[in-house]
Amino acid sequence: MTAAAPEEAAAPPEEPPAAPSREELLALIGSFPYWYQRIYLGHGVYTVPGPRLHEELWRRIEPTLPADLGGASVLDVGTNAGYFPIQTKRRGAGRVVGIESVDDYLRQAEICRRIWNVEVEVLPIDAHQLDRVQEQFDLVVFTGILYHLKNPLHVLEQVGRLCRDAVIVETECIQDDPRNGVHVRQGPTNQIEVKFCQTGVMKFIEADELNGDGSNWWVPDVACVLGMLRTAGFRYFSAASYLEPTRLLLLASKQQQSILNLAALR
Ligand SMILES: C[S@@+](CC[C@H](N)C(=O)[O-])C[C@H]1O[C@@H](n2cnc3c(N)ncnc32)[C@H](O)[C@@H]1O
Repeated sequence: MTAAAPEEAAAPPEEPPAAPSREELLALIGSFPYWYQRIYLGHGVYTVPGPRLHEELWRRIEPTLPADLGGASVLDVGTNAGYFPIQTKRRGAGRVVGIESVDDYLRQAEICRRIWNVEVEVLPIDAHQLDRVQEQFDLVVFTGILYHLKNPLHVLEQVGRLCRDAVIVETECIQDDPRNGVHVRQGPTNQIEVKFCQTGVMKFIEADELNGDGSNWWVPDVACVLGMLRTAGFRYFSAASYLEPTRLLLLASKQQQSILNLAALR
């Protein structure tokens, strides 16, 4: 019998520069009823046990980013505890702004950014109020947010206005399936006929049918997401990638020479 290969030891995480004592960290974390994002805060302490979806997401995105973001500006919509702002800052981003609508998450993001000693502006803004933001960003992180929006196209059009170059979109989605389809009237005015459309649809979630979570509103398929991104002004797209069968990851950019390497997404 051959001995099993020893598991590769995970590299110890880098220590954040401004971590308080382990006891203080545990008290800080315990002062919140819930953490969604797993963030390392020092002394072996994470906000929650993992791994979590956003960590796998970062692992997929990393090869598409330059080794150094070279001061690029980043907007993170629905930033939660600020995992992506911290990661992009550590990779050389310049101005980084996160917006979030839930008070506890805003407080968590402030705590985490202080511990990591990164300059990130975290704003209490609902994604439907992005018209209040009057600056442009090189990169927009738009992950885990689209299906939480009542008016996703409106918000994506605002993202298009605020984004100079590229957006990272991750969302719950309808899986492509040859059995999918709706019968819809299509065609020019005097030749309209009912046609069978297999893609380009979005399912309305009226209550808490998805995950028992009343904050979910729409689940699109990949053609719908691509169509909305084109409507919002994006022109170049990565292939669709899936973190789970119904979790779509897509990169889109306005510029052919983008900060993101769209071809590197797996
Ligand atoms: C599923 S979590 C995803 C968090 C993070 N973007 C990620 O990918 O790990 C959704 C986040 O979006 C926030 N959110 C939901 N609806 C929002 C809205 N209308 N405006 C701003 N933030 C919102 C939630 O409070 C939560 O922090």
